[in-house]
Amino acid sequence: MRVDVLSIFPDYLTGPLSVSLLGRAVDNGLLDVHLHDLRRWTGDRHRTVDDTPYGGGAGMVMRPEPWGLALAEIAPPDGPAPRFVVPTPSGRPFSQALAHELAAEPWLVFGCGRYEGIDQRVVSWAGTRMPVDEVSIGDYVLAGGEAAVLVMVEAVARLLPGFLGNPESLTEESHAGGLLEYPVFTRPPVWHGLAVPDVLLSGDHGAVARWRRDESLRRTAARRPDLLAAAELSERDRAALEDPRVS
Ligand code: ADE
Repeated sequence: MRVDVLSIFPDYLTGPLSVSLLGRAVDNGLLDVHLHDLRRWTGDRHRTVDDTPYGGGAGMVMRPEPWGLALAEIAPPDGPAPRFVVPTPSGRPFSQALAHELAAEPWLVFGCGRYEGIDQRVVSWAGTRMPVDEVSIGDYVLAGGEAAVLVMVEAVARLLPGFLGNPESLTEESHAGGLLEYPVFTRPPVWHGLAVPDVLLSGDHGAVARWRRDESLRRTAARRPDLLAAAELSERDRAALEDPRVS
């Protein structure tokens, strides 16, 4: 997958994209990452990327011209069109489902806003040439889109075939089935007086699977009732949720 990132702080992403699994994916070509300094597409002596907002108000807005020039150079109109993802707290929520959707794309371009955001015409204009998504990673406000891009790139990249050593991790993890993941344990069997649940040492695979499902249900009910309401539950799941030992 090709990933381009437009930012006034491209160095923000250099370190994180060079370590651990993301770094390996970049090294082995699974991820073809291109970091661009948006100021390259400014023409004035001060390489200005921002200006005051029309209508007044606090802060500055990113000017549209450098964005237009950058997008036209990175994705010329006569070539293939990438999907343009713009992180913003006013975007639609990022989710595992959207990560899967983005992982199916051959080419993503991320545009990192700073200040109060990017002139809205950039999204309007880009939308006439390529699919565009304004996406929020959560209900809080970051200083810029760079950290959000790292979040999205990591969530998307780990879904690419060949990224994870053990692809089964993908089917068993949190959010895979619309529920939170069950708690996990490793050796030693007792630590600081706390024992690993007996069932996990029993060797009874059926009992382990049932216990894990019940723990997932219990956790999801306690922490994310919104997810539980949307999840597909079996009769047994519903019965387990009503069992006082589970909930
Ligand atoms: N930029 C600033 N805050 C953000 C958020 N919560 N999600 C995505 N991009 C952002």
